[in-house]
Amino acid sequence: ADPMPFEIVDEVKANEDTRLKYRYLDLRRPKMQSNIWLRHKIVKSMREFFYENNFIEVETPLLTKSTPEGARDYIVPSRPYRGKFWALPQSPQIYKQLLMVSGFEKYFQIAKCMRDEDLRGDRQPEFSQLDLEMSFVEQEDVFSTIEALMKKLFKEVLGKELRIPFPRMSYEQAMKKYKSDKPDTRKETKQEFSFLWITDFPLFQLNEDKKIVSEHHPFTSPKKEDLSLLEKTPLKVRSTSYDLVMNGVELGSGSIRIHSPELQQKIFKVLGLSEKEAMQKFGHLITAFKFGAPPHGGIALGLDRFIMLLAKEESIRDVIAFPKNGRGIAMLEESPSEIDKKQLDELGLQFKK
Ligand code: AMO
Repeated sequence: ADPMPFEIVDEVKANEDTRLKYRYLDLRRPKMQSNIWLRHKIVKSMREFFYENNFIEVETPLLTKSTPEGARDYIVPSRPYRGKFWALPQSPQIYKQLLMVSGFEKYFQIAKCMRDEDLRGDRQPEFSQLDLEMSFVEQEDVFSTIEALMKKLFKEVLGKELRIPFPRMSYEQAMKKYKSDKPDTRKETKQEFSFLWITDFPLFQLNEDKKIVSEHHPFTSPKKEDLSLLEKTPLKVRSTSYDLVMNGVELGSGSIRIHSPELQQKIFKVLGLSEKEAMQKFGHLITAFKFGAPPHGGIALGLDRFIMLLAKEESIRDVIAFPKNGRGIAMLEESPSEIDKKQLDELGLQFKK
């Protein structure tokens, strides 16, 4: 065997890029072994929880059309349909809503999501979500499902008793009290792991260009009592969306969704999309709603973030077997990388000078 590029010990001396270049060796370190095993145990218990509770596991496509979660899409050129492009999903959002229209009342999936956005310790271009959706539910049902799941995971994987239900606070209260919508409440609760639901987020916000955009995503339903404000003062409308915060980290987000095609079109209008544009982008969802959709709602938890917190790591890269580095580069296989001229020609692509 060749000499090792670094010593396989927990107090590793090599920098992160070197560790990632030789990730298969880095993964031999006891801490990394324990992180990846922890991930395995969590995912195993998660799946068991959803099977026991009659959820169906469904895979959704990776080659798809833009799903609006607020980041840039990763784009894949189509060879047979030159000039046309696939988008990789930022989340399975539209598909899971369509599954509700199909009559699968309780869905879950451990889904890969791709987002081209600025990276941080708790953000990767490619990450995993525990994604779920249910029909005929209210916020309470989503909360109690997640609380029961967390209780089981903490007991089975960490051998700890978790106190449920989790405390709740409205977005407005949180901003007043902590000036943050993801406060770290560990000091107050004197717990090692502290959960908090944040509710009643605004439906819209203004982006940097002072344009109205969805605070969560455009499929989030407004609160009934605020519907009358939609046209005149949209920024005052509150939504049925919620976040789960764990130790000051946004662990998950969800909402009760719009299931009426008329209300969905109204929201697109507030967002500045004409009826034609809305149909071009989201026609498949609006059409589906026209055949009758059950009321539905759900949530997605960032799986990598959750495991990072349980493993007491600072970066989600330490709980992903083969992550990109902090600059979004795959050090191991050296990608993104150039492709052959022949491949470019087949795709009908050329670079601008
Ligand atoms: P949202 O966009 O809030 O909601 O994502 C849900 C959770 O996914 C995690 N997350 C990430 N983790 C690592 N790297 C990233 N780049 C990254 N981006 C997000 C976070 C976040 O809370 N479709 C909706 C969910 C729903 O409405 O049901 C959605 O994706 O922990």
